[in-house]
Amino acid sequence: MTLDAQALKQAAAQAAIDYIEPWLTPDAVIGVGTGSTADLFIDLLCAKRDRFKAAVASSERTAKRLRDGGVAVLELDDVASMPVYVDGADEINAQGEMIKGGGGALTREKIVASVSERFVCIVDASKQVDVLGRFPLPIEVIPMAQAAIIRRCEALGGQASVRQGFVTDNGNVIVDVSGLSIRNAAELEARINHWPGVVTNGLFALEKADVALVASRGGVTKVEY
Ligand code: 5RP
Repeated sequence: MTLDAQALKQAAAQAAIDYIEPWLTPDAVIGVGTGSTADLFIDLLCAKRDRFKAAVASSERTAKRLRDGGVAVLELDDVASMPVYVDGADEINAQGEMIKGGGGALTREKIVASVSERFVCIVDASKQVDVLGRFPLPIEVIPMAQAAIIRRCEALGGQASVRQGFVTDNGNVIVDVSGLSIRNAAELEARINHWPGVVTNGLFALEKADVALVASRGGVTKVEY
């Protein structure tokens, strides 16, 4: 990663900390995503650990980083709602629909986001696209279904392969699908999620971002959807 890219991620993470300031209250539980941008957000959040009650993590990796930084991590079962969920994305379009799962945490990310009132997406401007699909779409799949799911992806016109050497926190595999040009993300998200063996796919369109904080060399832009 270039220094510039790292600086942009840092700027987006800082903007997220500033954005969630009103929700950092003694009873608040914050939803936290996974990835290199989310890691920078976590480090800033840990510095404010005395301002809120706890966090819910979208991966084992994030849970460890939060705990190492002194933040209490709760199980989602113990939390009825969260004011905000903050996470990165691999792509985001002008409607706030995203592809996520480059880090393989898409299922837990989608679950934690679904229990949060607002999805705050933190990205650098290189993640903004007109049409989703340049980044390969990750699908979490129960291992015995992997060949069947690859055939279905290829029938859609994509090229699909199992991510090598990777097992999700849920014990499953990731099928990455390249070559898709996704013009109706909500329809495709629902369709793929109905295939037997799919746990979930990395389209976040049925529940998309509420706000994106997009970092570029000119500064951070807030986009509301
Ligand atoms: C992990 C994700 C990440 O949010 C996505 O891959 C972006 O990561 P990064 O901030 O490292 O570019 O969905 O499953």
